[in-house]
Amino acid sequence: MTGGTRLIGEVAVPGAKNSVLKLMAASLLASGRTTLTAVPDILDVAVMGDVLAGLGVSVVRDVRHGWLGLDVPDEPGAAADGDLVRRIRASVAVLGPLVARCGEARVALPGGDAIGSRALDLHVNGLAKLGAVIDVEGGVLVARNSGRLQGATIWLDFPSVGATENLLMAGVLAKGTTVIDNAAREPEIADLCAMLTAMGARIDGAGSSTLVIDGVDALTPVEHRTVPDRIVAGTYAVGALMTGGDVMIRDGRAGHLGIVLEKLAQAGAEIDVLADGLRVVGRERPRSVDVVTLPYPGFPTDLLPQIIALESISSGTSLITENVFDSRFVFCRELHKLGADLRTDGHHVVVRPARRLTGAQVMASDVRAGAALVLAGLVADGETVVTDVHHIDRGYASFVESLTALGANIRRVTDDGAG
Ligand code: UD1
Repeated sequence: MTGGTRLIGEVAVPGAKNSVLKLMAASLLASGRTTLTAVPDILDVAVMGDVLAGLGVSVVRDVRHGWLGLDVPDEPGAAADGDLVRRIRASVAVLGPLVARCGEARVALPGGDAIGSRALDLHVNGLAKLGAVIDVEGGVLVARNSGRLQGATIWLDFPSVGATENLLMAGVLAKGTTVIDNAAREPEIADLCAMLTAMGARIDGAGSSTLVIDGVDALTPVEHRTVPDRIVAGTYAVGALMTGGDVMIRDGRAGHLGIVLEKLAQAGAEIDVLADGLRVVGRERPRSVDVVTLPYPGFPTDLLPQIIALESISSGTSLITENVFDSRFVFCRELHKLGADLRTDGHHVVVRPARRLTGAQVMASDVRAGAALVLAGLVADGETVVTDVHHIDRGYASFVESLTALGANIRRVTDDGAG
């Protein structure tokens, strides 16, 4: 891509990656046809579809219309394919539904994590509280349960998104009442609660930090529309401000972007909240703001790389603090190659104003870092090449096409290289 053009025009926000993958897993809770709409055209949906197909689900997809049909058999398989599970961590979401419905689930440990490791301890301990017996057999996490799971009260040490979802999907079919306290409150969890409720689940407190679930005997499949992707919407909002552009983000939900819009407004964006989306205008060089990531409704960690890219061209110094993941700052090294002035220390990064960013070849290390490098490339002098763009495909549908429609000078060269 060649930097220097302003993003101007309109972009539509598809359904959320972090919602649809869990909605797909939730289909396992009921035999018959679940239909999902507003399904984004992203790689992770295809991989999750393959995970479900391996469990006996027949998957029919109309990519163009964002439609997905999942025909779940009466007795789904119990073992999720190890190679696929390692490709997307979200596939661990089949654990709860499978153990609740079939009495057994076998899921390869993502990345070979040890049992009780930080990454899965909340999932595993919560399922054990509901009565599942958990073992590791040859690198595979096995959860077994004879009869129905038994409702219990679970306090999460940390409001983990994935653990909340897994325990929610296990609790809806458990006997009696399950309480998940210190639950994650992300809009994608409220979306999952909405689908489960339509399926016949009894859930109180959706979107709050205490979920009370009265287990039912069986659920029925439904049709459900995926909530719009707040991270994709936020990415375009940051892009509008960085490029001094004017972008109408259709289906961007202000209600899900509270602190993000507040920070962008402090940084100088003009934001109009409209009935069908958001309009974000950047008129001047952005002002620096400090940002701290936290579980929702805090600032989302999935917008951290994009905000660092913004800060790198802002007028002052900013302090960015990451509280959710350990390794998110790998991306700073790549941004530095474009001329950003960054200093990391533990889970903090200080971003000083760079006089300008200059095009270079950089590598996308994950989906959000990749999107952030593209945004940086849009304001860098000269040509920027982002490699390993398959990471971006995991979460952004038609990213290059959408940016081109907004006026960006960008093209995709091959699967592994974008200009
Ligand atoms: C989900 C999102 C991801 C987002 C993250 C936080 C999907 C597919 N991914 O990931 O994009 O960045 O939420 O908003 O929805 N942890 C534990 N023990 C556990 C589980 C998690 O210690 O059992 C820790 C993790 O190591 C991490 C933190 O909790 O440091 C957050 O993880 P979690 O909220 O579970 O994120 P994911 O569900 O994996």
